[in-house]
Amino acid sequence: MIFRQLFDSTSGTYTYLLASRRGGEALIIDPVLERVDRYLQLVRELDLKLVKAVDTHLHADHVTGLGALRDRVQCVTVMGEQSHADVVSMRVSEGDRIAIEGVSLDVLYTPGHTDDSYSFLLADRVFTGDTLLIRGTGRTDFQNGDPRAQYDSIFNKLLKLPEETLVFPAHDYKGDTVSTIGEEKRCNPRLKVRSIDEYVDLMNNLKLPNPKMMDVAVPANMHVGLRQEEIARRGWALSAAEAIALCERPDVAMIDLREKSERDKYGVIPGSLHAPYADLAANIRVGGMLHELAKATGKRVVFYCAFGERSAMAVQAAQDAGLTSACHIEGGISAWKKANGPLLR
Ligand SMILES: [Fe+2]
Repeated sequence: MIFRQLFDSTSGTYTYLLASRRGGEALIIDPVLERVDRYLQLVRELDLKLVKAVDTHLHADHVTGLGALRDRVQCVTVMGEQSHADVVSMRVSEGDRIAIEGVSLDVLYTPGHTDDSYSFLLADRVFTGDTLLIRGTGRTDFQNGDPRAQYDSIFNKLLKLPEETLVFPAHDYKGDTVSTIGEEKRCNPRLKVRSIDEYVDLMNNLKLPNPKMMDVAVPANMHVGLRQEEIARRGWALSAAEAIALCERPDVAMIDLREKSERDKYGVIPGSLHAPYADLAANIRVGGMLHELAKATGKRVVFYCAFGERSAMAVQAAQDAGLTSACHIEGGISAWKKANGPLLR
């Protein structure tokens, strides 16, 4: 496995790059905007294809690299379903998996530092965001933080993992890079409390100054959605209502770009075909499934996904590949559902 821990010294942020092999798909956790060039250089050097960029929560101390990475390499952006970010490509919740080729992260909802804080478990290691730090825990005094919820996330979820599980946090300010669950149980001063009330008391009396970047980072991180006006201006976007009118028409091929887990969880548009975003390049090139389908049947190709991000990127790529009938459903299944479009489970 390829595993890289990268550090942004300005914000003390750790970013993790994961892949199962050289030449394969890669995933990045908690990228920092200013470091995006470096990440992409490393991705190229290791001959990887960055397909997913994930944030453990909405950060207050640095601007996320999610939007920039998506714009640069058309990767899928992922955050928890509670996230206050305007649009990410995919939202996950407790029990979901974030998968790329050869790597699968179990999604643990661990609120407390913020109400959108998640941890991700990968076999022998857990990425704890700002929930559990090395000899510390993330502050709970802003962004809907809640020390009670954090106690529960730490004591009833993270500390229940095997003692030898490696702990990789989103930050460190002291120079530590990794710990284990067992080590934190024994040595983390914040966890030496006898009750939840004692923990709440401790967290409510930290009296920390706000992060320097907070006034810049929080608003910036709430607006990471892909700007879809250009796609719409070119006439490549359908509103949910317009798309509903085309549902199951013989001259239209609705193409679902989501992953199987999202289809199972949220339902699919009746009559649509499944062609995951990860396979897009192969599907739209000459000889590819979608290219041939459009050519042979003359059907109009209508892409959709969860929120319209992947489908907007797919429309652009399909148009570039000569599929001139390609368009997408703006706002994805989320908008479709709000407009009372039919869904099959
Ligand atoms: Fe944070």
